[in-house]
Amino acid sequence: MHKLLFPLVLLTLAACGGDKPGQASAAVEAASRNLQPADKELAEIYNRSCRSCHTIAATGAPLTGDTAAWAQRMEKGKDVLLENVVAGFGGMPPFGLCMDCDADEFDALIAFMAKGQ
Ligand code: HEC
Repeated sequence: MHKLLFPLVLLTLAACGGDKPGQASAAVEAASRNLQPADKELAEIYNRSCRSCHTIAATGAPLTGDTAAWAQRMEKGKDVLLENVVAGFGGMPPFGLCMDCDADEFDALIAFMAKGQ
């Protein structure tokens, strides 16, 4: 009997993983992967620079379209967020890996990720 129970316990633990406070749910994570900026050039930058982390909850990055997570970040103000992207912040490397992005592009990328559109 316990041979059957063991995998069941593992499954239950895995299923609970996304429900830790402050961590995005699996549904929010899945939804983030389907979001793209409407602007074609911005989408290209987003896909090569920001998307790899901002659609994976395990990176610790606020997920694209996770409006609750982004609301807390946006409270810091646009300028602070921009400075943090440029300098690097926590697990995020400097420039969020977009070395040739300018301030306007970063602002647009942040606005897109915060709203998911
Ligand atoms: C290698 C992974 C990675 C990449 C690539 C990445 N980010 Fe991040 N980003 C993170 C992580 C992790 C955090 C959360 C850091 C923390 O709170 O400790 C974060 C946080 C942020 C924040 C919030 C900063 C704050 O002050 O709270 C902004 C804004 C942001 N990222 C924008 C971007 C943009 C724009 C891009 C693409 C140009 C990008 N990121 C690319 C991992 C990444």
